[in-house]
Amino acid sequence: MGTNLYKQDYKISRKEREQQIGHKSKVLWFIGLSGSGKSTLCDAVESFLFQKGFQTYILDGDNIRMGINKDLDFSSASRSENIRRISEIAKLFTDSGKIILTAFITPLEKDRAVAKEILGDDYIEIFVNCPLEVCEQRDVKGLYAKARKGEIPNFTGISSPFEEPKHPDIDVKTHQLSIEECVQLVWENIQDKLSIKQ
Ligand code: ADX
Repeated sequence: MGTNLYKQDYKISRKEREQQIGHKSKVLWFIGLSGSGKSTLCDAVESFLFQKGFQTYILDGDNIRMGINKDLDFSSASRSENIRRISEIAKLFTDSGKIILTAFITPLEKDRAVAKEILGDDYIEIFVNCPLEVCEQRDVKGLYAKARKGEIPNFTGISSPFEEPKHPDIDVKTHQLSIEECVQLVWENIQDKLSIKQ
């Protein structure tokens, strides 16, 4: 923790930003195995919200790991640091009044607890719930095949753990619902939380 630091407060508050924008800021934290549909669902939910006039932004695992988090690997410590940094970035975005959608595997309960602690009531947990067999069969990026051959160490679901979220705010079974049904399910569960009237 840095010393000799003083939190600087600025005149325009988050509340004022939210009022100007017309909705509350929240973080939609999508959790799920590689290939479960996190990015696809984020993309579809963001398009849906954008068309309704909401201000949104997506933070995506692969993209963030190609930039600000390029120093991190897939060890347990790096995954924790990945999630901690994303949580802090998402927190900055909430202060800007936007709705953030995050697409990170977030495999461990302890790391989700850190995200929850950093984001507080703004954290909305969405489990992109798809069985490992289905993700592996889809294998959109060809990573499961590589992981089975031992070419990717610590691959989530194969050689690195994935703890299913116990009490997600929203449980979306992407292998059973159409993408439109998934979006609708998310929308029904977040609509009230985004309303500035609450
Ligand atoms: S997390 O575990 O730290 O939350 P994150 O979502 O950022 O993971 O990154 C996951 C993405 O990195 C996957 O979608 C996949 O494309 C890629 N990847 C590369 N190596 C691994 C690995 N060992 N385990 C999981 N995903 C990996």
